[in-house]
This record gives sequence, structure tokens and C-alpha cells, in this order.
Amino acid sequence: MSKIVHIVGNRPQFIKLAPVSRALQQYHIEEIIIHTGQHYDENMSNIFFDELDIPYPKENLNVGSGTHAQTTARVMERLEKVVDREKPDGVIIYGDTDSTLAAAVVISKLNIPLFHIEAGPRTYSKTNPEEKNRVVADHLSDYLFVPDRVSAENLQKEGIPAERIIFSGDVMYDEFLYVVRQDNDAYTAKYPADFILMTWHRQENTYDMERMEKIIDFISRINCNIVFPLHPRTKKRLSEYGLWDRIYQNKKLTIMEPVGYREMTVLLNKCSLVVTDSGGVSKEASFAQKRCFFFLGLAVWPELIKSGHIRLIDVGDRKSVESGLSEINNALISDEKQMPKANCFGDGNAAKIIADTIKNIL
Ligand code: UD1
Ligand code: UDP
Repeated sequence: MSKIVHIVGNRPQFIKLAPVSRALQQYHIEEIIIHTGQHYDENMSNIFFDELDIPYPKENLNVGSGTHAQTTARVMERLEKVVDREKPDGVIIYGDTDSTLAAAVVISKLNIPLFHIEAGPRTYSKTNPEEKNRVVADHLSDYLFVPDRVSAENLQKEGIPAERIIFSGDVMYDEFLYVVRQDNDAYTAKYPADFILMTWHRQENTYDMERMEKIIDFISRINCNIVFPLHPRTKKRLSEYGLWDRIYQNKKLTIMEPVGYREMTVLLNKCSLVVTDSGGVSKEASFAQKRCFFFLGLAVWPELIKSGHIRLIDVGDRKSVESGLSEINNALISDEKQMPKANCFGDGNAAKIIADTIKNIL
């Protein structure tokens, strides 16, 4: 029996893993999950395994938090030993985090077939940490599963042979469709109508106080209640910079601990629109047919920008903030809140395509 190892460590990776693991279970393949431990709070990690019925990791490398170099180095050192012992026939990595980068380097040097899920997106930013991780992981991987056509084109432009690029569609879309079909009524009842869903966690938006103050000012000018599940990175920075008073002045904000994925899908479906700097949430807004205002100024998901699902706002630029705010406030009073379907992330069968491909290769 072939053996496949999944390497995950961050919240979005647990969500991406769920449908892939389900699809692989249809085959006679032994599946092992290695958790790097980059995310470790109950509601940043375990909640996803419990709620989404993901098999528990066989190993947790417990790398915890650190600088980019510390996280990457700890994963590399600890992972190599576990993989040497497990001797998998193939390894799956997900997305673009430091755990992804570290795993790509280790696995590729061990010459084990490496499958990268959500390969190919590019923002062409020189400073964005996720871009660096993804470029390296893509170029070290043997098989690259792309979520959309633009990602496939990006990889081809970089010289990756076409036979290694597989258009699967987006596993996050699979999981969204799967979870919204479940009974989530308890969460639906929790939230009154008319709110914006906001998330905020990216390094570029949390590393300096001035930038965070600009974001707080920007949020304070939105004319609507805002539900805000707070990422631990942002929580820590708000404390370090003494910004809680500024946050609490905004009576329209409901700040919550991070929520599980089922609750998140309810929030996505029920909100009027989404304000975020998350790559995953900006995509999911389109799954829920919601308009998304992306406050990082990075060209994420070009097809969604073109179709008007994502509107970029650069919070460092006054003009961009003013026009973005007027669009948000206009969208809130418009009768047409539902966006058309986007149709660029496949048809909800990405995990099956991935599992079939892996089965044929192993
Ligand atoms: C990481 C990824 C980012 C991804 C995000 C998903 C990298 C470089 N970044 O960012 O691409 O969008 O995950 O959420 O890999 N913390 C806790 N508890 C936790 C996890 C984090 O308190 O369970 C706090 C710690 O103070 C930590 C900080 O959050 O220092 C940042 O965590 P880290 O994993 O370094 O980066 P993320 O912002 O989570
Ligand atoms: N998410 C969640 N609970 C939250 C916030 C986000 O389940 O409180 C989900 C979200 O729906 C998406 C994923 O986590 O599927 C995105 O993770 P995040 O924004 O942390 O990272 P990114 O996608 O930017 O890498």
C-alpha cells in the first residue's frame, strides 16, 4: 500500500487538507498527517480537526511561534527526522506559509515526490512573505495543482513544464460547498442581519503602529456593524502598541476570538460584504457571492479583481482609502448586495482531481 504524508501547520491549511483527505480515503492509500505546530491555539488548530472530521496528526513538530527564520529552521530540522522514519511515497504541501516553504525544501532534498496544492498564484511583490514562500515551494515541487487558470499561466511563464501543472480548481471551494450543506443553524441564529465581516492579520498590516492606526481609522469610517474574529497576531500587536482604547471607541465593532470554519461560512453567507486582508477569505467572499474589499493593495486573485468581486484598497494611500470607503458605504445602501457567481475556481471537485492524480502517480 502506498503511503502519503500531508504537511500542515496553519489555519488555512487545515481547511484545505479536509477535502483532500476525504478524497484520498476513497483509495487504498495510507495517509499520515504531520502538523508543524506553527498554529497551536485551540481555535487556530484543533477546532478544525474536530469540526471538519480530519484525522488527527500522527506527529506534531511543536515549532510554535518565532521569526520567519526560526519557524522555517525548526520545521526543517524536526521534519526531516520524522520523514526519514515514515518513508512516504509522496508528500503533499499546501499554500504559502513558512511551514510550506520549510517542508518543500526538506522533501525535495530527500527526493520524495512533492505535490503542491494551491500552486501558482503570484502578487509579484518583493516584500510579501507569502510570495517568497510560494515561489520556492512551486519550483521545488514535482506536481503543481493550480486553483485557477491565472496560476497555471504564471507557472508556465516561469518555465515550469506544462506536464507538471495540473488544473484542479480550488480545494477551498470544495470545502466551502461541503460545509454550507451541513446543519449550521445554531450559528445562523447567533448573528443579526446587516453586518460586515472583517478579518485582519497580514504581516504588512500589523508590523508597524502607524499602519495599524490607519487601519483603525479606516474601519471607524465604515457605516455598519462589523463582526471581527480577531487573529492572535493582530491581538498581540494591538496590545503591544497600546491601541485597544482606539479600537474600543468604535462601537460598531464586535470583536471575537477566531471562529471555527462552520461559523465562518455562516458569517460569509450572512454578511452584507467582506473587508479583509486574507488571501483565503477574499476568495471565499466570492464563493458566498459577496463583494470583498481587500485592504492590502496586493493584486490577489486577478480574475476576481477583474470581475469586480475584489476591490483593492491601499490603506497607506489616502486617495485609495477615500474612494474605497465611499464604495463600501455605497454598497451598503445598495439593493444589489449579492454578486454573480465567479466560476474561476473549478466546479467543487478539486480534491477528487488531486486524489485521482496522486493515485495514478504513486
Ligand atoms: C501565518 C502565515 C500567513 C497565513 C497565516 C494564516 C507565515 C509567514 N505566515 O501567519 O501566510 O496567512 O498564517 O493565518 O507563515 N499566534 C498565536 N497562536 C497561534 C498562532 C499564532 O498566539 O496559534 C500569534 C503568535 O504571537 C505569533 C503570531 O500570532 O507570533 C504570528 O503567527 P505566525 O504563525 O508567525 O504568522 P501568522 O500571522 O499566523
Ligand atoms: N477562518 C476561520 N475562522 C476565522 C478566520 C478565518 O475559519 O476566525 C478561515 C477562513 O474562512 C479561511 C481561512 O481561515 O478559510 C483563512 O485563513 P487566514 O485568513 O488566517 O489565512 P490566509 O488565507 O490569508 O492565508
